[in-house]
Amino acid sequence: MFLSDFIEQLATRFGGASIHCGHGVDNLYDESVYLVFGALGFDFQRSVTEQNRELLPDEIARLERLVLARVERRIPVAYLLEKAWFAGYEFHCDPRALIPRSPMAELINNRFEGLLNSGPGRVLDLCCGGGCIGIACALQFPACQVDLADISTEALALARKNIALHKLESRVETRQSDLFADLEGRYDLILANPPYVSQTEIEQLPPEYRHEPRLGLHGGGTCGADIAIRLLGEAAGYLNPNGLLILETGYSAEALQARFSATPFLWLDFENGGRGVCAISAEQSRQLIRTGQDADEETPLQLEVNLPGH
Ligand SMILES: C[S@@+](CC[C@H](N)C(=O)[O-])C[C@H]1O[C@@H](n2cnc3c(N)ncnc32)[C@H](O)[C@@H]1O
Repeated sequence: MFLSDFIEQLATRFGGASIHCGHGVDNLYDESVYLVFGALGFDFQRSVTEQNRELLPDEIARLERLVLARVERRIPVAYLLEKAWFAGYEFHCDPRALIPRSPMAELINNRFEGLLNSGPGRVLDLCCGGGCIGIACALQFPACQVDLADISTEALALARKNIALHKLESRVETRQSDLFADLEGRYDLILANPPYVSQTEIEQLPPEYRHEPRLGLHGGGTCGADIAIRLLGEAAGYLNPNGLLILETGYSAEALQARFSATPFLWLDFENGGRGVCAISAEQSRQLIRTGQDADEETPLQLEVNLPGH
């Protein structure tokens, strides 16, 4: 069978099996290309037509094993291949950490245009999982030092594998920490993609997401925003005077909006899709802490959130 026919038939088979594609691609044809190209080593930069050829029997047998695991056990392609791409870079990927998919990739590739005046010296990737955000940042800014921090020792072991993959041992380190608890010093840029899904939302997610670590999904509290709220409250103590926090809050953006209401966040737009990512200056984060400290127990911490289109 030819590559092009295999891919088309696979997309149809995925459709019949109600496969959900939410891990890096948004349609069943691309999901099929991802699996076949990734498994057989075809070049993602070249089209199916350009590389079309007859598949060998052992290649088809190898693909069939992966397809069965995808269809019957609903294992995401990135975990089957044990690799994923983020911001154009390849990463080791396994169930110790979430599959990379943050819209922050676009910000990194644009070198934070309009947000940073110069390359950051010290960067923190907080809630780093397998380390894709901080490592992609280190690759974009060859002079910066990056800390990858996570509470999960398993995720940090994967992150170390990715540091080695990109030969970044001299500039990128891992730190086990419950948010900022075991971190020291201040950063020019903090990139944070904490868990932000509520228990109710987790129960409604397609089966693919059950293969991902719950620690990477559940954001705490009924609305899923508890970890993000705690992170916001502590960030000021870890940002340099001109520092910037970029926080992905995804599903819990509205919950944060309801929780806070006085300092304006900048909610970012993405050409490649994605929402719920905001930029907060060090000054804003200091203001946030002052407001919180001044407030009496009856008055919630106030911080204004402006979501585009809301
Ligand atoms: C949404 S995942 C993000 C992973 C990675 N940054 C990415 O974009 O693919 C959230 C990560 O936060 C970590 N995490 C959960 N609670 C944490 C906490 N209290 N302190 C630090 N990390 C935490 C989880 O282990 C998980 O790796």
